[in-house]
Amino acid sequence: MTRPPILVAPSLLACDFGNLESEVRAAEAAGGDWLHCDVMDGHFVDNISFGPAFVKAAAKVATVPLDVHLMVTRPDVYFPRFTEVAGNISVHLEAEHDVKQTLRGIRAAGCGAGLAICPATDFAGVLPYLEEIELLLIMTVVPGFGGQPFLREMMTKVRAAAETRERLGLGYRIEVDGGVTVETAKLAVESGADTLVAGTSVFGASDWSEAVSRLRGDR
Ligand code: DX5
Ligand code: ZN
Repeated sequence: MTRPPILVAPSLLACDFGNLESEVRAAEAAGGDWLHCDVMDGHFVDNISFGPAFVKAAAKVATVPLDVHLMVTRPDVYFPRFTEVAGNISVHLEAEHDVKQTLRGIRAAGCGAGLAICPATDFAGVLPYLEEIELLLIMTVVPGFGGQPFLREMMTKVRAAAETRERLGLGYRIEVDGGVTVETAKLAVESGADTLVAGTSVFGASDWSEAVSRLRGDR
């Protein structure tokens, strides 16, 4: 199977919330393919970020798909509040819900279904769901905060995800999220990732276009 093109998804968690409109425009102008939106409920993870109102405000300006990552205990209850504006919605395997039913609900609403796993979760846990998803999100930090170092050990899961996709003839994207820099992006892509979430390494860079291009491996 031919590998899908590498996509870079700047994470709005690292943007200036007070200037959301211009941040969204600038992240797109820099070449961001998707905009990643980290929704945290203060329960599933130890942080509260933003909710549907913020994501809808971003959607008013955005022209690229919004990649919504729900770090919430009840994704089945909350995903419907994002379906109107999201391109993809990723939910955690570790959350409290009927995973298959949630993934099917996301697809039925016309969005791409994503399944996310925390660093402590084995790849084997996602096997029953691979036919239900467009996106497999492998966390490369413990979810909750931007700016943490990339966990290289997670590349074992990325390789397993790529091998399994090939073996089963499936088409899900393999996304890594957390601590993605030019250096770790290269490692992730070599391991089989094709979708790179990047907060600090884009919004903290002096030249966002250069940052996105270098993450993607263009220069
Ligand atoms: C972490 C979030 C990430 C975060 C990544 O819980 O899921 O999407 O924004 O931030 P960086 O790229 O700064 O590690
Ligand atoms: Zn995320």
